[in-house]
Amino acid sequence: MSDKHIQWQPSNVSRSERHHLNSHKSCVLWLTGLSGSGKSSIAYEMERLLFTQHIRSYVLDGDNLRHGLNGNLGFSPNDRSENIRRTAEAAKLLVDAGMITIVALISPYRADRELARSLFAAGEFIEIFIDCPLQICEKRDPKGLYLKARAGVIPNFTGISAPYEPPCRPEIVISSNQQTLQASTSQIYDYLIVHNVIAPQSSYTR
Ligand code: ADX
Repeated sequence: MSDKHIQWQPSNVSRSERHHLNSHKSCVLWLTGLSGSGKSSIAYEMERLLFTQHIRSYVLDGDNLRHGLNGNLGFSPNDRSENIRRTAEAAKLLVDAGMITIVALISPYRADRELARSLFAAGEFIEIFIDCPLQICEKRDPKGLYLKARAGVIPNFTGISAPYEPPCRPEIVISSNQQTLQASTSQIYDYLIVHNVIAPQSSYTR
């Protein structure tokens, strides 16, 4: 909770100066979807693609954040809300620092994602629904967690014993089971060009 005795300290470097230095704007790419839908794979592939184009980006991945910053949180609705809130605040700092910030969190509740969106200026929060049917995520089961969830070993598992609320109006929908990883990252990359976050590729190839 913010205290009335705490003041905001403004930076001497403006957002637009940072954007000018980087030759691109910053934003958050918020990837939401079931466990096993491909969020992390797309996030890290996207980070690599941007890196090769000299664009500054960084991934905030749910599993990784739960090793540190969010290590004290579980999977109750309240803990998930706090997980999303903290990650959104961290993303906000990185966006302020000029990074294209790629968040990969299940973030199953619409209200939590809307709260995250509310921290950003219009056009800065790009919600990306990684749309993959539960049956396919469960069949993939890359970490063996669905099997454990079905067996009752893991409680509150998204899609099995806890809800997932798909976005109503995401900026981008990726049908990750119907296209290649490269097609998915190109889809996001093209969105960034069309919405003037980054310049067309030719400007960056040196
Ligand atoms: S979120 O719901 O709070 O956004 P987050 O993305 O941080 O979740 O973490 C999800 C990861 O935690 C999954 O990819 C999975 O590896 C692991 N996990 C462990 N328990 C659960 C659970 N009950 N529900 C969903 N994911 C779980």
